[in-house]
Amino acid sequence: MGQAEVSRLSPGEAREQFDEIQQVYAVAFPNYDLGDHRRRTLRQIESAGFEAVTVRENGVLVGFAYGLPLSARSTWWNGLRPLQPDGFAVETGRRTFAVIDLAVLPSHRGRGLGRRLMDELLRSRPEERATLATVPDNRETQRMYERWGWSLVGRVPGVEGETSDTFDLYVIALRPEAPTSSR
Ligand SMILES: CC(C)(COP(=O)(O)OP(=O)(O)OC[C@H]1O[C@@H](n2cnc3c(N)ncnc32)[C@H](O)[C@@H]1OP(=O)(O)O)[C@@H](O)C(=O)NCCC(=O)NCCS
Repeated sequence: MGQAEVSRLSPGEAREQFDEIQQVYAVAFPNYDLGDHRRRTLRQIESAGFEAVTVRENGVLVGFAYGLPLSARSTWWNGLRPLQPDGFAVETGRRTFAVIDLAVLPSHRGRGLGRRLMDELLRSRPEERATLATVPDNRETQRMYERWGWSLVGRVPGVEGETSDTFDLYVIALRPEAPTSSR
């Protein structure tokens, strides 16, 4: 295996590299609809705050992660159970970064590339927290996120056309709490 090179992409680069990203997506999520992935991702790339990172080995794209901030009109938390404290689900467009997809080719897994992609994606985000959705029966992946510091907040129903009937939503704090005293 060669040297892994992690890069942060501009929206233009993400658009240009979309076909390579989708080749990895197709292997990592074999049952998902590629037309739907293309439409959804090309729309997300145009949204404010979209961010993508890739990892290449010998020039070949072997993994990626991307996401975008939840907008003030986001339906991300709709139907969340158990109920959370008042204000939990309020979005402003600047509060929460949603990690939409993370994938590494099977041949390159288990070498820390998934973790590096996630760390790089979140490293300089200005939001106070990040969230991601997993399918409930993927316990191995859920345990991985828990080891990485993410917490399960609850379950939401999927809407028609989504990849699952229900999703488990996770969150992680991106910055320490703002200081409460003026020390
Ligand atoms: C999830 C995924 C991106 C992880 O990629 P990766 O490059 O293997 O990630 P890492 O090497 O950083 O390892 C991640 C964790 O999984 C564990 N792991 C990796 N390969 C493993 C294997 N073959 N068996 C058991 N555990 C394994 C590692 O120990 C590591 O745990 P740790 O960070 O607590 O030590 C990759 O498995 C993948 O693409 N899966 C399919 C798509 C997917 O499910 N994406 C997430 C959707 S929510």
